[in-house]
Amino acid sequence: MRLTLRFLVPLVVALGLFAYAAVPLVDALTTRWFVRDLDIRSNLIANTVEEPLEEMIRTGQPARISAFFQRLTTDERLYAVGLCLSADGMPIATGAYPSELRCGALRAYSTAGDHLLRTPKGVVHVAVRKIDGVAPDSAELVLVHDMSFIERRSEETRRYLFYFFAALTLSVALITVVIAQLSWRGWVAGLRALLRGEGILRPSSNTAPELKPIARDVQALLRELEHQFRPTDETQQRWTQDTLRAVLRGEMRGNDIIIVSNREPYIHVKTADGIKVQHPASGLVTALEPVMRACSGTWIAHGSGSADRETVDKADRVAVPPDAPAYRLRRLWLSEREIAGYYEGFANEGLWPLCHIAHVRPTFRADDWEQYQAVNRKFADAVVQEATSDDPVVLVQDYHFALLPRLIRERLPKATIITFWHIPWPNAEAFAICPWRVELLDGLLGSDIMGFHTQFHVNNFLECVDRFLEARIDRETFTVVAQGFRTAVHRYPISIEWPPAALAHVRPIDEARENARVRHGLPRGHRLGIGVDRLDYTKGIIERCNAVARLMEREPQWVGRFTFIQIAAPSRGTIGDYRNYADRVHERVDEINARFPNAAHPPLILLHEHHEPDAVYEYLRAADVCMVSSLHDGMNLVAKEFIAAHDDDSGVLILSQFAGASRELPEALIVNPYDAEQCAQALALALAMPAEEKRARMRLMRNIIREFNVYRWAGRMLLDAAAMHQRKRFRDRVETQLPG
Ligand code: G6P
Repeated sequence: MRLTLRFLVPLVVALGLFAYAAVPLVDALTTRWFVRDLDIRSNLIANTVEEPLEEMIRTGQPARISAFFQRLTTDERLYAVGLCLSADGMPIATGAYPSELRCGALRAYSTAGDHLLRTPKGVVHVAVRKIDGVAPDSAELVLVHDMSFIERRSEETRRYLFYFFAALTLSVALITVVIAQLSWRGWVAGLRALLRGEGILRPSSNTAPELKPIARDVQALLRELEHQFRPTDETQQRWTQDTLRAVLRGEMRGNDIIIVSNREPYIHVKTADGIKVQHPASGLVTALEPVMRACSGTWIAHGSGSADRETVDKADRVAVPPDAPAYRLRRLWLSEREIAGYYEGFANEGLWPLCHIAHVRPTFRADDWEQYQAVNRKFADAVVQEATSDDPVVLVQDYHFALLPRLIRERLPKATIITFWHIPWPNAEAFAICPWRVELLDGLLGSDIMGFHTQFHVNNFLECVDRFLEARIDRETFTVVAQGFRTAVHRYPISIEWPPAALAHVRPIDEARENARVRHGLPRGHRLGIGVDRLDYTKGIIERCNAVARLMEREPQWVGRFTFIQIAAPSRGTIGDYRNYADRVHERVDEINARFPNAAHPPLILLHEHHEPDAVYEYLRAADVCMVSSLHDGMNLVAKEFIAAHDDDSGVLILSQFAGASRELPEALIVNPYDAEQCAQALALALAMPAEEKRARMRLMRNIIREFNVYRWAGRMLLDAAAMHQRKRFRDRVETQLPG
């Protein structure tokens, strides 16, 4: 508004001045026109009356002349007429004839020039015309026209001009205000949109044309700032979905992202109530699903659900998450033979026990190896099909795909391949057991980046490469050059999304506690422990049960007052070792509960069934203590989920020293799961821990997970891959320029 006024005031002043200057000009102009008209008119009258007048002069009849003049002045404009027959004195004239116009004073009016005379009655126009042909001296005819109408007209003109300029000023002002307001609004909306980032990160057709140069400048500025500040600011900055997206768009030039894992993020299953969507119990899926929601792209995985085929399109794709699609899931179908050989056999009976120290012997069969190779080739085909360019970003996940990086590299040499090994990597002695150790290492070294959760696993991997391959290892930069190709082997501890999506719709903690107690028939004030795992021999579930039993023996006051709920998701049930383990867990739980026959409530509750993430979160929130007692674990995300679930800073985490998470969370009570006494003591400590101490520990751990969330995990790998590509470009340039 202020801006509009600043424009309007000068406009009004300028137009006013213009009107003020225009009035006298118009006056002078119109007067000139009228004078000229009256001159012509006077000539006309003089010519007309010349002949009769000569006659009357010659016959000397002044009375007739007077009467004749009287008749002439009946014309409204002709004010007076006079006739000078001598050089001096008053002429023969009509009554209104001005006394100033004596016969001797007419010279001024007979030539060109000022013909106007101001008399007491007003302004008059005077024209003097000679009447020739009357000797001896010619007579002079004086015609006096009334000019008072000119003043009246001038007055009218002034008024008219005033109204005209006033109307003009008003119209211009109005139009200006309306246009200014409309353009202003458009500009403000456009600028706001730019500030919100619309049209900045990606050129948008909605950006007003006049704002496009600004948008381009801002884009350039942002890119520059991103580049300038990343190296210094990266460790302090908070990673979110948006930060990750910006990295993809900036560093990876917006390339399509493809994730490959065996387990799919959404499983469609047939139930009595129709087709339902299930979320698998998999740390890998828990971590990667939010990353994919942020990045879009394609996730390629084995379609293992009973209704999976019914829910894909012709190209075997389905948009997920089902309720708010953000990326594509491409399902691959595996035959029973492939599943048995590649998944159950080589991956889970061979590599899984090989990589975990859990005292289960790995089994390697040639037929399983065949299937493992065939399925890796099948997934490589799918990656090539799904890639929309020759340089996609491919994130290869876990031990199911050790051969895949090399297979993709052969077909898409320009791809950025980042492989993450979600489970531990064994030392060289243990790894030597595998008959195809060389092929596995070679396959993995097709990646640009090979990631592990801990430095210990990075070191084990490098040791294996050193032992079994022809390769150059740089232990300062942790890179391997094999067959002329460089792979960075780094530690990237995986994490969860922050804040966890599940927290947006779970019940308050008190309600969650109440619910869990009511569901299991436990009284108010009863203390709860929780364990959430796949029913897997690496998870130390039996050791956990033993610890609960030892707690009851050491501190009997907890008998009937503390219950440990173990959620055990059915897992890999077609494999003998898993079935045996499940039986042993059931037996041990029954045996321990039977040891306390007088307890009002059992020490252990085993829930051997699938739970959806929301239900798991509710149990985690309800528990006073969570126990993660893995015998060997890459990271273990349940530990991090328990911390995320306790947004009231309550709860105590007991964590195995053999889980990768223990490196990041020293504020947990760290235990050796094989030491039942120590674990029981940790349970006792957790149950008796003062609220203040719980809060202090929990806050520290929550801060760590907030900072080191899964967006940072994925973002760091992408940034490192981008930096590697850049360094490679520089190296290539130097090599071509420097001889030798
Ligand atoms: C571990 C593996 C994952 C796997 C998950 C569940 O976390 O690292 O790759 O998805 O277990 O196992 P499953 O065999 O059911 O996929």
